[in-house]
Amino acid sequence: MKFFIDTANMEEIKEAHALGIIAGVTTNPSLVAKEKDVSFHDRLKEITELVDGSVSAEVIALDAEGMIREGKELAAIAPNITIKVPMTPEGLKAVHVFTKEGIKTNVTLIFSANQALLAARAGATYVSPFLGRLDDIGHNGLDIVSTIAEIFAIHDIDTEIIAASIRHPQHVTDAALRGAHIATIPYKVIQQLFKHPLTDKGIEAFLADWNSRS
Ligand code: E4P
Repeated sequence: MKFFIDTANMEEIKEAHALGIIAGVTTNPSLVAKEKDVSFHDRLKEITELVDGSVSAEVIALDAEGMIREGKELAAIAPNITIKVPMTPEGLKAVHVFTKEGIKTNVTLIFSANQALLAARAGATYVSPFLGRLDDIGHNGLDIVSTIAEIFAIHDIDTEIIAASIRHPQHVTDAALRGAHIATIPYKVIQQLFKHPLTDKGIEAFLADWNSRS
C-alpha cells in the first residue's frame, strides 16, 4: 500500500515529502478553504512542482458540463493533476469524458461497493471510500474496502482503491490488510505512525548507556 498525504498545506506536504514516503497528495474543498492567502491554482502548481505523483484537485460544479470545464482547467496546471469528482451520475458522466481524453480521475465520497464498481466502470483511475465518515455513522468503513478489493480482484479491474477519511494509525494498518492500494492520510496521523513508546525508551536507554562509558 502506498501513502498519499491528505492536505493542501504546503508545510505539511514539504515535511512528509522529505520523509520519502509520499507517492501523492489529495485535496478537497474543505482542506483548500483552510489555506488563506493563496489561490487554489497557485497552491496546486506549488504542490505539483514538489511532488511527482498524483495530486488530486476537486471540482466544485455539480453538473457534468461544469465539472468537465473546471477539470480541464485544473488538468492544464500540470500533468500529474488528477481530477477529483463526486460520486454522482453527473460526476460519472464527467469521468467518462476525462477518461476518453486521458485525464486521470479520483471518484470521491464513495460509501458503498456498488458506487465503487460504477465509478470503476466509468473509467475512474482511483476510487476513494471514506472510512472515518462511515465509522462515524456506526458502519464499519474497513469492510467496504475489503468488499471493493475483492470485487476488483474477481473482475480484474485495475482502478486503484484509495482508503480515505483516515482518522488514526489503526485505520492505516487495517486498510493495508484489507487490500487498499493507497491510504490518503492527514499529516497528524502520518506523525502518529512513527510513534512507539518502546522506540523512545530504546533510544533513551542506548544514549544513557553510551554516555555512561568512562
Ligand atoms: C479524501 O480524499 C478526502 O479528502 C478526505 O480523506 C476526507 O476526510 P475527512 O472525512 O476526515 O474529511
